[in-house]
Amino acid sequence: MKGKHIVLGISGGIAAYKSVSLLRLFVKAGAEVQVVITPNGKQFITPVTLSSLSGKPVISEFFTANTGEWHSHVDLGLWADVMVVAPATASTIAKMANGVADNMLVTTYLSAKAPVFVAPAMDLDMMAHPSTTRNLDLLRSYGNHIIEPESGELASGLVGKGRMEEPEKIFECIRDFFHTRESLKGKKVLITAGPTYERIDPVRFIGNFSTGKMGFAIASEAAERGAEVTLVSGPVSVEAPRHPAINVVKVESALEMLAACEKAAPEADIAIMAAAVADYRPAQPHERKIKRETDGIDSIDLVKNPDIAATLGAAKRPGQKLVGFALETDNADAHAADKLRRKNLDCIVVNSLADKGAGFGTDTNKIKIIYADGRQSDSFGLKSKADVARDILDAIENL
Ligand code: CTP
Repeated sequence: MKGKHIVLGISGGIAAYKSVSLLRLFVKAGAEVQVVITPNGKQFITPVTLSSLSGKPVISEFFTANTGEWHSHVDLGLWADVMVVAPATASTIAKMANGVADNMLVTTYLSAKAPVFVAPAMDLDMMAHPSTTRNLDLLRSYGNHIIEPESGELASGLVGKGRMEEPEKIFECIRDFFHTRESLKGKKVLITAGPTYERIDPVRFIGNFSTGKMGFAIASEAAERGAEVTLVSGPVSVEAPRHPAINVVKVESALEMLAACEKAAPEADIAIMAAAVADYRPAQPHERKIKRETDGIDSIDLVKNPDIAATLGAAKRPGQKLVGFALETDNADAHAADKLRRKNLDCIVVNSLADKGAGFGTDTNKIKIIYADGRQSDSFGLKSKADVARDILDAIENL
């Protein structure tokens, strides 16, 4: 962490006292830290403490009152190698998610080119409120990292989820982040994500419940490790991650996804097939909308779609790594091992719909990994999809 530039954003919650320890850990590890505090944050911790420890004046206002000196959030956003918002209150999270730029912390966040880590801290009811959940989802969709709060005793005396993660843990998160940052530098990674839609007629399709979240999380993580990412995404409502190293190719059907993959695969060092590709498509999509009374159909003829993973597996170059997913409802290991062999994969990420919190649409997942040489990881436990993405890329790097 030596010489790294860290912007530490502190908002107004009781957990602000823990930010002092976090700041000390960063400084001791050799990082340069610029503290940006919200007006409410100053009610909880004094700028004097923070500037003494960081060796830099704390920034809170847009101007220094007596000199009129303008604090440039743009410069600060560019200076940062990473921005850490800890504690992030419900209000600051809402402002960050919705671009309410009424303080230096949020304006700096909006100008930051660097990865941003957010450590929420609030009471359990605020944490569980749908607006907080939605705002955190939005922040995730922008590619930010959420450092999940712990469950435990809260300042209110209530017990539940909302206690800011301990400074040591936040510090480790950032240290690990810098550690893995360059690990995929110079590598090209192809990722498929989301469902495919197979047209029946201009208004109807065959599809599935995939939201693309897992593939998007892998794309963000790969880009942050320095890879150049081609993200081939089926139709989804979640926004694809925005990162200069991610090239998003939007497709609709399995045939379009195959074409995009065949274009990118020859160059790719790693291909990760996280899409839920429809296995069949209507043999003859209708050109006009099928009318209930006049066209009255009883069935739709289907033809098999190409297997994209197997196609890439058959053309795999020496040294190229191909990774598949298996989302199963039963007999997960056996089905996954069979897919690994059939598609010539190097490893397969297995998740089961039988596990609560795993699979489609959730923000969490529970996986294990089966390798071509027969090795198997233990189950990784229920984690955020961002953390699962890290586990998957760590496993691929170890290949
Ligand atoms: N896959 C693919 N192209 C397809 C079908 C699947 O690339 N036409 C990839 C998926 O992205 C995933 C892996 O293959 O990485 C397994 O997908 P899955 O749908 O579970 O496999 P299938 O072979 O279609 O088996 P199933 O009979 O369970 O649907």
